[in-house]
Amino acid sequence: MNSPLNSHRSVLLEETVEALGARTGGKFLDCTFGGGGHAAAILDSGGENFVYAIDRDPQARERASALQQKYVGRFVFCNINFADAGSMCLPPLQGVLMDLGVSSFQLDDGLRGFSFREHTKLDMRMDNSCGRTAADFLNTAAEHELVQAVRDFGEEKDWKKITSLILENRGKNLLTHGDSFAGLIAANFPRKAKDRIHPATKTFQGIRIAINGELDALQRALPVLFEKLGIGGRLVVISFHSLEDRIVKQFFKKMAGQAVSRMDGEPMQFREKFAKILTPKPVIPSKGEVDSNPRSRSAKMRVLEKIK
Ligand SMILES: C[S@@+](CC[C@H](N)C(=O)[O-])C[C@H]1O[C@@H](n2cnc3c(N)ncnc32)[C@H](O)[C@@H]1O
Repeated sequence: MNSPLNSHRSVLLEETVEALGARTGGKFLDCTFGGGGHAAAILDSGGENFVYAIDRDPQARERASALQQKYVGRFVFCNINFADAGSMCLPPLQGVLMDLGVSSFQLDDGLRGFSFREHTKLDMRMDNSCGRTAADFLNTAAEHELVQAVRDFGEEKDWKKITSLILENRGKNLLTHGDSFAGLIAANFPRKAKDRIHPATKTFQGIRIAINGELDALQRALPVLFEKLGIGGRLVVISFHSLEDRIVKQFFKKMAGQAVSRMDGEPMQFREKFAKILTPKPVIPSKGEVDSNPRSRSAKMRVLEKIK
């Protein structure tokens, strides 16, 4: 199903409604409203469902107003970072949803500056009312910030050469537009026949994660959102790359009283179990969904149920 107002195709839609237990009615928090596809599906699946929705993108407010008109008295929107959800006064929730990353609105709107195909200013901010644009970041970030973005967040094996390339090309206008920055990388790392992705893909991903503080927001938000659940409530997280998925998996294990990693030697008697993991393996989209919506291909959904 498309989000109500756009070209964004909501990922794992049916699976999400099931995982949240939304058919039996309750109060839900959608932390990543986007185009409202998941929010609308939750509202449509139970007569009395109420949805609180969050998105840090100021443009999501306009899309949310359509849902406000359609689902009078059952839908509220808040334009904040989900890491700050602790400031919201909410009743105990039956379900919380995070569908991480960016929406097709953001990716497909040249003016938002996410694309490496267009000659538009590199921006990439989800909340474009504040913070550094990607062009500012490329032109002014300290070397260690560039390394963190390209190596750690982009998981780019050629991070050393790419960060040097960025530093060498400052002040030459090559770092300010999507197509010219991507062209700079492509000229230095020509695509091989076996490569399925553009040579700048991982670097772009790393810079986007860095300027939006995506991993930090996720890490801060998970305990806050868990707090907002009532007993029996479910936290459903859809992630799109391994760095996000690892944070989610480790948080879920901690809440379920399990060892977070092989290095975690905390004795069993000191572990407390606050939740049950309902997805020992993540739920992934069917082949049919991936065929009809290639952006869903890397989605992984994990579900945690609060028990105390
Ligand atoms: C993949 S889209 C969600 C699409 C939505 N589920 C739908 O069905 O249309 C992710 C959305 O989450 C928002 N987002 C990402 N990180 C956020 C954060 N830390 N706080 C609030 N919103 C965030 C983005 O601005 C984007 O609109």
